[in-house]
Amino acid sequence: MAENYVLVTGGAGFIGVNLVHRLLSSNSLGVINLDKLTYAGNLQSLDDLSTNPNHVFIHGDIGNRELVRYLLNQFKPRAIFNLAAESHVDRSIVDGAAFLQTNVMGTYNLLEEARSYWLAMESEKKPAFRFIHISTDEVYGSLGETGKFTETSRTLPNSPYAASKAASDHFVRAFYHTYGFPTVTTNCSNNYGPYQFPEKLIPLIINNALDGKSLPVYGDGANVRDWIYVEDHCAALEMIMDKNRPGEIYNIGASDERKNIDVVRMICSILDELKPVWTNEKLAGRGLKQYSDLIFFVPDRPGHDRRYAIDSTKIKREIGWNMEVNFEDGLKKTVQWYLDHPEWVSNVKSGEYLNWIHKNYSWRLEEKK
Ligand code: NAD
Ligand code: TYD
Repeated sequence: MAENYVLVTGGAGFIGVNLVHRLLSSNSLGVINLDKLTYAGNLQSLDDLSTNPNHVFIHGDIGNRELVRYLLNQFKPRAIFNLAAESHVDRSIVDGAAFLQTNVMGTYNLLEEARSYWLAMESEKKPAFRFIHISTDEVYGSLGETGKFTETSRTLPNSPYAASKAASDHFVRAFYHTYGFPTVTTNCSNNYGPYQFPEKLIPLIINNALDGKSLPVYGDGANVRDWIYVEDHCAALEMIMDKNRPGEIYNIGASDERKNIDVVRMICSILDELKPVWTNEKLAGRGLKQYSDLIFFVPDRPGHDRRYAIDSTKIKREIGWNMEVNFEDGLKKTVQWYLDHPEWVSNVKSGEYLNWIHKNYSWRLEEKK
């Protein structure tokens, strides 16, 4: 058993999986991974850790206060990384209820339990404890042609997803100001990389292209996102655990702004290189010359934010973080990852990944009791 633990919530999701792997590979820390395993949670992504004694996976909800209390008292983590969330804007437009339940109520319940735990902590461990809340640049709303979001930009959320994240950010802030509870909030730009659920733009385009399906681009395709490779985001989170000012917000971004249509075209040209259409049996007989022939403009997302751009000066200056992977390299690595993991992709598409818990994991908590 590890001597020191951190609690990661949402550690079976895209960013969580990358963060858990990173924390376990570069630290002597143990990780308690609390995840509800919604459609977005995928235990197959944690398969290589199933026998790692420093990784304790707990199938549960951040809103379950009894469970959270038990875990905090049992493992006495030195920090909490709160990533558990409903995270897809399009789903929030169809139905926002789960976003309110997890992102707002869940975070509130987690905050309450974490605060009680912190109040009762041994005095020498107490000063180092942090509640690190992982949020998004989408809380700041939409930018025009120029400017960037800073930590003091107003929160002007436009989608139900962004509204729920902004609400949780405000509760985190209030817990610091009201109770002195040591929180840190990070607002990061759009992530991409391995293990991302193929409902988000980049993995959706890669996998639709490989399947010969159309590549839906919303509106005129000129909406801009500021992309960061997921490992760069996780490196920032790891650094923040040890170096931060309580109560502060840190924006995280790689300053790599791209129009959606340019991102889609880049993915198509990478695929043209790595798996040309004439070698892809799913495209046989279709008369396509290149993947970009599959691009298809569809009606715009309601309330679609036009442009996001992050100013990361503060985290660079105060924490010493910097991005390492540029968009061209990161996108190539990402496309290659999906090409190299056909089983992961096909289990996600078939829904088989949802059965992973029964096959490969027991609820480790039960073993420990
Ligand atoms: P994701 O949707 O891939 O994963 C979310 C994980 O949370 C899933 O494993 C899911 O099972 C789990 N979960 C959901 N509800 C839960 C609950 N009530 N209790 C416990 N677990 C629950 O999301 P992601 O892309 O990995 O994002 C992680 C966090 O980072 C989110 O808070 C998101 O708002 C934030 N964020 C994401 C991005 C991005 O581009 N993906 C950018 C900035 C910030
Ligand atoms: P997404 O990955 O859903 O992230 P977010 O909405 O949180 O930024 O979408 C990224 C951008 O891509 C966004 O401007 C919407 C657009 N988009 C498409 O054009 N087509 C798609 O199929 C998807 C999923 C997104």
